[in-house]
This record gives sequence, C-alpha cells and structure tokens, in this order.
Amino acid sequence: MRAHFRPASDMPTDPDSPSAALVERGRLLRATTLAELFARDPARVAALTFEWNDWLVDLSKERIDVETLGLLLRVAEAANLSNWIAALFAGEKINLSEQRAVLHPALRAPVAAPVFVDGVDVTVQMHETRERMAEITGAIREGRRKGATGRPLRSVVNIGIGGSDLGPRLVCDALGALASVRDGAPDVVFVSNVDPEHLTRALAGRDPASTLFVITSKTFTTQETLANARSGRAWLASHLASTEDLAPHFLAVTSNVEAARAFGVRDADILPMAEGVGGRYSLWSAVGLAIALRTGWNTFTSLLDGAQSMDTHFRMAPLGRNVPVLLGLLSYWNTRVLGHPQRIVVPYAQALARLPAYLQQLQLESNGKSVLRDGTPVDGPTEAALWGDIGTDSQHAFFQWLHQGTHEAPVEFIVPVRAQHPLGDQQTLLVANALAQAQALLVGRTEASVRAELAAANLSATELDAAVNARRCPGNRASTTLLLPTVDARTLGALLALYEHRTFVEGVLYGINSFDQWGVELGKTLAKPIVAALADNVPLAKDVDPSTRALVAHVRRLQSTKHWT
Ligand code: F6P
Repeated sequence: MRAHFRPASDMPTDPDSPSAALVERGRLLRATTLAELFARDPARVAALTFEWNDWLVDLSKERIDVETLGLLLRVAEAANLSNWIAALFAGEKINLSEQRAVLHPALRAPVAAPVFVDGVDVTVQMHETRERMAEITGAIREGRRKGATGRPLRSVVNIGIGGSDLGPRLVCDALGALASVRDGAPDVVFVSNVDPEHLTRALAGRDPASTLFVITSKTFTTQETLANARSGRAWLASHLASTEDLAPHFLAVTSNVEAARAFGVRDADILPMAEGVGGRYSLWSAVGLAIALRTGWNTFTSLLDGAQSMDTHFRMAPLGRNVPVLLGLLSYWNTRVLGHPQRIVVPYAQALARLPAYLQQLQLESNGKSVLRDGTPVDGPTEAALWGDIGTDSQHAFFQWLHQGTHEAPVEFIVPVRAQHPLGDQQTLLVANALAQAQALLVGRTEASVRAELAAANLSATELDAAVNARRCPGNRASTTLLLPTVDARTLGALLALYEHRTFVEGVLYGINSFDQWGVELGKTLAKPIVAALADNVPLAKDVDPSTRALVAHVRRLQSTKHWT
C-alpha cells in the first residue's frame, strides 16, 4: 500500500499542480464575499447541493465554488484516495504505524462478504460474536439471565471510556431514551469518568441484585475503566451475601480476553473484539452491546444496515458525487487552504445531543496529528478543533460569537426534518430556526437596515452610530446544511458511517494515519508516578518539572487538611 501513497504535502508545487492552484484559489476566495459568489453563479445552489437517498447536503453557503471543487478533486486523485478507499474495504493493513487492517466496515458488511487479513476471513469471528450478542440481548431483555440471587438483570451499567463509551452512549441517547420496560428494555447507564462521583451517582438507588456491569475496554488496561470496574464489583460484594457468586453480574467486551478472565469474567460472558477495530470506530462491534440491550436487537441491526448503505455509497460513488469525500474535501479546504482552525457542529435534534462529543473523539483523535505516515512533519494544519452543541439551545449561548465575534468558524447544521415524536408545531419551529441561523450567518444584517429600524428612535448622531454598530451583523460567514429525513436507526447508522469515512478522507488528504493515537499515551504514562506520589508518597523523579512538583505537593497538603468544617 505504501507504494501507492503520495501525500498531499509531497505534491509538486509548480503552478499547474493542484496544490499551487488551490493556494491561489484560496487567496481569491478569501477576498470574495459569499454574496458575490451567489451573484456570480445563478446555478450555484444546484451545483453545490448533493443528494444521497433522501438526504441533502448544501455546500452553497461555504466559501467554495465549482472550480475549487474541481481542484480539490485533483488533490484527492493525487493522494490516491480511490485506492485508499479500496484498501480500507479490502482489509489491507492501512494502519501503518501499528501494522493493522482497519476493520470497522467489515463489522457491518453483509454475511456473504468475506474480508481476509493474513489469509483469515475476519468476518467469521465477527458474525459469531454478533450471534452471541443477539443471544445475550434476548436473555437479558426477556428476563432469562438472572443475577446471583435469582432476580432478572434489569439494570445495566456500561463501564468504559473514549470509544468504549461515546458511540454507544450517543446511540442509546438518540434511539433508546423512550425504550420501554414493557418491551424488555433494561435501564442502561454509562460510567466513564474515574471521578468517583460518576459511578456513585450511577449506582445510587440501584438494586445490586438486578444490576449487570458491562465492562467495555478493547485493551482491558485502561485505568479509568478498571478502577470503576473494581469499585462496581466492591459495591456488589458489599450488598450481596458473601456466599453469592458475582460472576452473573459481569459481561466484558474486549480484545484482551486473558485480562477479562483474570478480572473474574466467565469465558461465556466475554465478547471479543478484533484488533483491527479501533476504539472510536467500535460501536458496530460488541461495544454496541449496550445499544442492543437498550434499544433491542432489530434496532441494532438497522443501525448496522444504515452504516452499510453509507459504506456502499462511499465505496462505489464517483468522488465528485460521494458525500463523505465531498465533506472531507471541504474540511481540507477550510482548514488547510483557508486556514480555519475550528469547525462548529450543531445538530438540530435533541436526540443528537451527544454527537459533538462523539465527533470530537472520532475526528480529533483520528486526525490530530502532525506527522505524515512516514514520520516526517506535515507542511500545514491538519484537523481543525471541533466543538458544538444542540440547536436551538446553542442559539442562546455561543451563536452571538458566531454572528458578531471576531473569528469566523464554519458551522455545520445537521437538521433532521421529521420529528421522532411530533408535538404541535415544534418541529417546524426547530427546522425553521436552523435554516434561519444559516441564512443569518450568510446575509448578516446591513447597516442600512439597522439605520432604517432606528430612524424613529430619536437618538443623537453619536448614539445612532453606536447603536447601529452594535446591531449590525457582518454576515459572509460560511456554513454547511445537512438535511436528514429524521433520526431513526438506519439514518443514524448512515450518519455515523458518513463521519467515519469523512475522517478517513481527511486523513488521506493530509497524508496522516487516522487510526493510531500515540499522543494520548504520554499522559497515561506520566500519571503513574503522580499516582504513586499522591497515594503512597513515593518521591517524584528528579527531572520532574518544578510546576508539576509544586502541584503534587499542594494536593498532598490539601488531601490531609479538612476544609470548610
Ligand atoms: O483515549 C485513548 C483510547 O485508547 C481511545 O482510543 C479508546 O477509545 C479509549 O482510550 C478506551 O480504550 P479501551 O477501550 O481500550 O479501554
């Protein structure tokens, strides 16, 4: 694979090369208003609006035009994007730094579509695991799986962090909020933080005899997860009779079967994960067990079906009509060429409240890199910071900054059109607000319109100028609008797969490996001696920096002092 790959940063820079032409295009478009772009091209909306099934992606409010899109497609070709897509689906070892295949698409591939890695069809174990998930889901939802005292397990605590938490938590929130006990749905709660408050709150009021812990950790070495799992076990032990066997209260999802066994989880209760499934891409695997438990098996399989339909689109559609590719190119353009260091995501759907947090891990852990695949430095910015929150609440929080602040950050409006549960005209209000915000960012509010409004206000000239300046909005701020039919399992599966593939496209364009995360290891390593210093007063090494040393000393003082009593 390495031989095929030519990162964007290595592309020739003669005036005909896509990168040189793009840089020039960027200079031109930065100096052009969005209003001018609309005025110049009457067909702009049609040319920059893309459809997939009944979805619509409107890029016409972005600072881009058809010619730029053509140049970006040349960047994609120069980066061999089509080959990388084919390699992803073929199970090639495209995670070069870890020499692993990238197998999340295989998790939702049809049963008859084998994926061979080192001569082994990896889908066989995936399908076996899926069958076991289905059995476990049925046993729990139908009350057949019982705890130590013989009570059905009606309460599920998923302990995991990062990819072992964010994806399943988002989907349970999106699709399982109203799941009914009458249909067998257990209560499902997620515990990720090592802050003891998280587990304490999750367990408060819970019945130990009917509580099941699902310990979700690909590595089964993550300290936050193991600490919570140990505390969960201690809570059970302290509430159940000492003669009771705690094993029925635990399931594990992991690729480190040995470690789960050593923790005390029975073999039949350990669901394996393939090494090639990265944490942030893992909700389609047994990591999604909490989803199946809460929303039911049919919903889980519909989620996978939705993702698979996006996989097919991504694999087959020409690059110029390929939605993940187009969005990846847009990110590359906004970040690498126009230089925006941020991207804002605003889902206009309560069900998608956790989408920004999920996307932060997906995109920032994947593409927050500064070296190319061969270890040499990148020659420009990679992934923009990503943040956001649900609309319409965000309108009453950070949208002021979007409309009148000194920074421009492209916004992505994600707008499901039909309500999951309609109430009066509320969905219309919601959708109208989304469209109006995108419009407001584009058109702003002119000085003349504010002056006209204030004409009758009887202000002095100085007061009028100040009032006008405070009220006018510059507009000319870029956004994308993604219209979805609604939030259901298929749509959500496709949406999450879309973002996975967009992340991959960006990584290919930047020339980086989106599938490792070496940066997060450093903090984990450095925490160990600090834990030893705080817990057992083990002296810090001599080369520890003075600031950290002083903080540790102060924490130790506070640990031994009672305050506010
Ligand atoms: O944050 C680093 C990370 O390794 C993520 O990539 C992963 O999703 C998370 O920790 C949890 O890891 P695990 O599932 O192995 O506990």
